[in-house]
Amino acid sequence: MDSQKATLPKFERLKKTRLGLLGYGAQGSAEAQNLKRSGVEFLLGLRDGASKKRAIADGFSVLSIEEVAAQADSIAMNLPDQDQAQIYEEFLKNRPVKRLVFAHGFNTHFKLIPVLENGPRHFLVAPKGAASGLQEFYGTKNALPAILAIQGVSADANADDKAEKKWAEEYAIAIGCNSRALIWADFKDETDCDLFAEQVLLCGGVSSLLRKTYEVMVEAGYHPEAAYFESLFELKLIVDLLWNRGITGMREKISPTARFGDITRGDRVIDDSVKKKMQEILKEIQSGEFAKEFLKNNRSENYLALAKKQSEHPLEVMGKKMRDQLNNNIAG
Ligand SMILES: NC(=O)c1ccc[n+]([C@@H]2O[C@H](COP(=O)([O-])OP(=O)(O)OC[C@H]3O[C@@H](n4cnc5c(N)ncnc54)[C@H](OP(=O)(O)O)[C@@H]3O)[C@@H](O)[C@H]2O)c1
Repeated sequence: MDSQKATLPKFERLKKTRLGLLGYGAQGSAEAQNLKRSGVEFLLGLRDGASKKRAIADGFSVLSIEEVAAQADSIAMNLPDQDQAQIYEEFLKNRPVKRLVFAHGFNTHFKLIPVLENGPRHFLVAPKGAASGLQEFYGTKNALPAILAIQGVSADANADDKAEKKWAEEYAIAIGCNSRALIWADFKDETDCDLFAEQVLLCGGVSSLLRKTYEVMVEAGYHPEAAYFESLFELKLIVDLLWNRGITGMREKISPTARFGDITRGDRVIDDSVKKKMQEILKEIQSGEFAKEFLKNNRSENYLALAKKQSEHPLEVMGKKMRDQLNNNIAG
């Protein structure tokens, strides 16, 4: 048995509370499935919609959001960041809920859901990684780390606060986070760093770099198939090396030619002008400008048109064709 599995706690504090989960999308379904694996009972509150059908098909009993708000003392807000404040106003504001548990600090840090003296306490249990990783690595040594925070709790927590910290740690482990990597920080750190890294590197940076790498090769007359395999396809292999060994360790595993190109060319592409733009983007996050723009435009025509355009990029078309071809060949 894996050593983490052997040390999974009994979740005694968690089991004493009446836990409610709202939302069954990417994060909510991973948390629900893992709580079930951990043997922790909870109420699941959903509106009538696609994810309610999915949750029922997955074997969960589903209540309405109102019913969970009335019955639970601790509620996990696994709802889109842009909708949480309105759902809080409508269903949770005047309920005797003790804990609101967030998987990302957005609504607390940007004060969209107020922290009230006599209201629920805000808890942050933010797994570091895509929700699919919570399920994939549950109970293994690769279980995702998490950043934890409780609003109003400082490093020199009193006995009650210490008990609340233990509750948060149990919740993190029960949803599949790594008991050896629970990092106590604050809402600001998690929110700013999460937004910054996903914009400039993990999602925005990488996807833009991939599109431009592919475009340069194809525009120079190289075969689109070769351009796909040399860029997006190979990225996973390099990321796995980086994840396991760091940058220097990755360099020990690539060819001397690749290493020479990496060391002498990387900073020419991602130069100080790019770093300056990263700093501008960080300032937009820190000032709340990004949050304001996101809340205003996340369903706007321009935004949806841009998303559509990027989804139709030739790299995406080629990627789908190549993945289908590889999968069919394996199946055949
Ligand atoms: N996805 C990740 O990998 C990940 C990782 C870390 C943290 N998080 C955080 O987890 C939270 C949830 O994100 P997510 O990615 O799971 O979102 P998501 O996949 O979009 O899930 C949305 C869920 O909320 C429900 N919902 C949407 N609008 C609603 C409304 N107006 N009223 C009631 N229910 C509504 C949806 O129901 P319907 O099916 O009916 O629309 C669905 O069950 C966010 O705070 C996010 O930052 C996500």
